Amino acid sequence: MFKGRFRKEEKKQRRAAVVSVGKYMPPHILTNFDLEKMVDTSNQWILERTGIKKRHIVKNGLRQSDLALRASQEALARVGWSPMDLDMIVVGTVTPDHIFPSSANTLAGKLGAIGVPSWDVLAACSGFMYSLYQGMVTVESGRADKALVVGSEVMSSIVDWTDRSTCVLFGDGASVLLLEATYEPYGIIDMEIGSDGRHLKLLHMPGGGSAHPATHETVNNKEHFLHMEGQETFKLAVRKMLLVAKTLLERNHVNPEELGLFIGHQANLRIIDAVTKRLNLKPDQIFNNIERYGNTTSATIPSCVYEAEMMGRIKKGDWILLVSFGAGLTWAGALIKWGIDPLPVLGADAMADDSVSDTYSDRLKPGRDWQKQ
Ligand code: UT7
Repeated sequence: MFKGRFRKEEKKQRRAAVVSVGKYMPPHILTNFDLEKMVDTSNQWILERTGIKKRHIVKNGLRQSDLALRASQEALARVGWSPMDLDMIVVGTVTPDHIFPSSANTLAGKLGAIGVPSWDVLAACSGFMYSLYQGMVTVESGRADKALVVGSEVMSSIVDWTDRSTCVLFGDGASVLLLEATYEPYGIIDMEIGSDGRHLKLLHMPGGGSAHPATHETVNNKEHFLHMEGQETFKLAVRKMLLVAKTLLERNHVNPEELGLFIGHQANLRIIDAVTKRLNLKPDQIFNNIERYGNTTSATIPSCVYEAEMMGRIKKGDWILLVSFGAGLTWAGALIKWGIDPLPVLGADAMADDSVSDTYSDRLKPGRDWQKQ
């Protein structure tokens, strides 16, 4: 497991700071009541067991790269960067438009970031956090000054809509963070990541890879949908997320009560409750949006960061702890000293579920003084 000691001691001066955020959730909403008409489930079961009320689902040919594009454009517009200013684009996803080329390549093409290196990271629900790790180390090393880190998913494309045990859980969406090199005492202070490949079958998609290429048989056997053993995954999620959180806090001498905000992967509200109770966190130290979006896999954590920032729940100088857990198994955490001056708090219309329009960025102030120094 990565301990981070050498990095902290030797390279503490140059850090990767989060300087902008972007989010796009497709406009079409699927509620628990809609699902009641599709499978043998109830709003009450879904709400009590998961905390989810609704989720956003793509329609009309909207692709994963389109969601990523809109979220990225918003984040870039906010700081006034051109796509060509970027030094790297990394996308965490399990639902790329195609197996290859990567969805990051497609996103770079759609953005007009021609020549900018771009690649995908496959780490399931930790996909964004693993991507953040790559962004962090690349910026810290001096190989990149500006990085676009994306979590984007069309989970509806790999969900079996006749399987009530999984179809009620997931949603579509994209969110991004922009990283920039800084010598200020802000940014990603430390990360912890790890994996355990012995639990592959707890959460996986059996078909479509080289082990089981698509055949009539794999389609008939529903091998191109995700499969999950929920209870076991639940237990391991609580254990690992707690361990990651404690490791980062202890290693950096931050007490849980000093945390401005804890954001956990939005797979199940009960998982987050179990972790945050064990950390003795107060409700105002926790941010969730699973109620509105369900589990958007790699997009959950950056979408929470986005909303927390927009709602004024994060202030410059706050400690933010992000923790993910997902198939692989994979897990990751990031301890961030938030460095962004307050952005304009948006009105109710801008926080609506399908709020992010192409003109949304126009209402935001581009750039912040400390970034221009
Ligand atoms: O994002 C990556 C990581 N993912 C996770 O961490 C997810 C972890 N797992 C979970 O969040 C939970 O295990 C689930 C939400 C998936 C399931 O909740 P649970 O409390 O573990 O339920 P269960 O699987 O033990 O099922 C309990 C009962 C079963 O019925 P019986 O056998 O007791 O009669 C299920 O058939 O609930 C039934 N059930 C449902 N009932 C109504 C399962 N799904 C549904 C449903 N509606 N949608």
